[in-house]
Amino acid sequence: MDITSAKHRIHTLSAELEQHNYNYYVLDKPTISDYEFDKLLEELIDLEKKYPELALPNSPTQRVGGQVTKEFKAVQHKYAMLSLSNSYSVEDMLDFDRRVREGLGLTGNTLFGNAVDYVCELKFDGLSIGLTYVDGELVQAVTRGDGVQGDDVTTNVKTIRSIPLKLKGNYPKEFEIRGEIFLPHKAFEAINKEREDIGEPPLANPRNAASGTMKMQDSGVVAKRKLDCYLYHMLGDQVPHQKHYDNVMAAKSWGFKISEHTTLCHGIDEVLKYIEHWDKARYKLPFDIDGIVIKVNDYRQQQNLGFTAKSPRWAMAYKFKAEQVSTELQSISYQVGRTGAITPVANLKPVLLAGTTVKRASLHNADIIEKLDVRIGDHVYVEKGGEIIPKIVGVDLSKRPAHAHKTKYITHCPECGTELIRHEGEAQHYCPNEDGCAPQVKGKMEHFVARKAMNIDSLGSETIEQLYDAGLLKNIADIYDLQKEQLLPLDRMAEKSAQNLIDGIESSKQVPFERVLFAIGIRHVGETTAKKIARKVKSIDVLMHSTTGQLLEIDEVGEIIAKSIHAYFSDPHHKKVIQRLRAKGLQFELSESQQQAGTEKLKGLTFVISGVFNKHSREQYKEMIELNGGKNSGSISGKTSYVLAGENMGPEKLKKAQSLGVKLINEDEFLSLLN
Ligand code: IVH
Repeated sequence: MDITSAKHRIHTLSAELEQHNYNYYVLDKPTISDYEFDKLLEELIDLEKKYPELALPNSPTQRVGGQVTKEFKAVQHKYAMLSLSNSYSVEDMLDFDRRVREGLGLTGNTLFGNAVDYVCELKFDGLSIGLTYVDGELVQAVTRGDGVQGDDVTTNVKTIRSIPLKLKGNYPKEFEIRGEIFLPHKAFEAINKEREDIGEPPLANPRNAASGTMKMQDSGVVAKRKLDCYLYHMLGDQVPHQKHYDNVMAAKSWGFKISEHTTLCHGIDEVLKYIEHWDKARYKLPFDIDGIVIKVNDYRQQQNLGFTAKSPRWAMAYKFKAEQVSTELQSISYQVGRTGAITPVANLKPVLLAGTTVKRASLHNADIIEKLDVRIGDHVYVEKGGEIIPKIVGVDLSKRPAHAHKTKYITHCPECGTELIRHEGEAQHYCPNEDGCAPQVKGKMEHFVARKAMNIDSLGSETIEQLYDAGLLKNIADIYDLQKEQLLPLDRMAEKSAQNLIDGIESSKQVPFERVLFAIGIRHVGETTAKKIARKVKSIDVLMHSTTGQLLEIDEVGEIIAKSIHAYFSDPHHKKVIQRLRAKGLQFELSESQQQAGTEKLKGLTFVISGVFNKHSREQYKEMIELNGGKNSGSISGKTSYVLAGENMGPEKLKKAQSLGVKLINEDEFLSLLN
């Protein structure tokens, strides 16, 4: 492709991808599949690599992140970022309306044209952000900070797919728009699941998680966290309308995500109805809100009302009370997580709270129990706040039964009886018996076989449970000793599924070292860290014998991880398990191809792999292609450079390759491309 056509293609692709981002993340109406989207994105990434000088500053490729910001630049806000006054009751709201009308000289009966037009909005519970657009391009994103100056987090913000990098329609030349960045419940739960998986304490609530994410230095990690953003406030000399509602609707037409629940209300009675509705309906939203924001719609009226030192007189936040009920605490049970963390759980007399019956609530840890002095038999206050699981916030001491004993936290594991430990500075108790405590052992195995680890999907958690109970699986190495005959007597295990399982176990032996390293479950070693370690040390032997100093040289490895790696390998049980896995043929070092990684020999080439191979597995070939700068694709098209064809290549693929004139090469020819 010559440079002119490349330029043209880069423009078309960028525009198309932004439109698809908008369809998916703002409208929630995608028109192409994820696969097709990824193909277009890949094409753009390739072109930008080839012609870096042609890459657009706000290219959709920026959404993937990858840029690291060591320190965020402090930026002065052009318009101070004020906060809102809070109100908590209908009376407060009526007072607000009275003050507004007095301020505007509309003191007569509201039935006679004295009612004010208000805009009601959800009060999103996240962190505020100011976005500046010049000529339709996002140029800067700044956090609130102290209201006068904030941090420039533009690279991180560009990874949020619902924030347009380029506007459409008839937008002003320059303006600022403010809104709230937040984590939807689903994204929040996914982050905590991943944290649990590698033995890290869960994040307290979506708001903290969102603001923690915005402070991260690696925008690649931010991109994976699936933040979202609603916009609600326009600033600038050239905004098109004199009314707030009209301006946010205009912003919607330029591509911003404006909540569909933003509503124009005539007079305070309509406002109160809106509040009443959302006080209940908020629990059905897929994200947290902590109240409602009411704004005077007309800018001239806003101007007349003006500001106090801290907040506008023309707006008010109505904060929801966290719904609270009191009920009896019947007992406390203790759950053992897969990493050995103990969570105390309150078993309650069932009670209705925020539309659902609550029977259990989290008690978090020993400190909280101590602080609240919760006792069995107490009447406790249960609240549903920002967190998804209800929590106990206090005790009604007036109802405490005379005989209630002070709660003694357990000292031994409820599952295996081992004495619990508590690491310095941590709130949680742990059961240290990681290789003998049932939920921990089963949890380790579930992690080991997971898709991102050894990918033995035929071994589900129910089968693990059965095999564990039958005494056939005591640790991850036992998986490779399983025989088909042992499986057949299990519940719901037919000949075919048994064979599938055995085959799945067998092919997992080809899983590359980095994933094996993730699979064995060293505390704090997640997927990315495992990859970085594997690439650096190249084999488990080197890793086992690395000093702390050597470990700390690896990207992403700090004191905690280094310590955890040492602890893992100094355990004789782990050494034995690794020895057994190695004897079974698992990959404990980088493959030859990975060792010579990092060449650009296949740069610009796209491969489709088809058929069965003798010298290396498909997985290995895929990896070699990537490591040498090439691309893998699932289907043959005009852009395919080669089909790497093994035995029994599918006839459809063969036909397609021939009709498009794509060259077929065999294993040896492929390997000679590399040498
Ligand atoms: S308007 C001068 N609208 O709540 C007007 N704020 O307690 C400034 N917030 O700092 C804000 N949803 O971070 C506005 N629909 C909404 C909001 C909202 C959430 C946050 C925002 C603000 C804080 C004020």
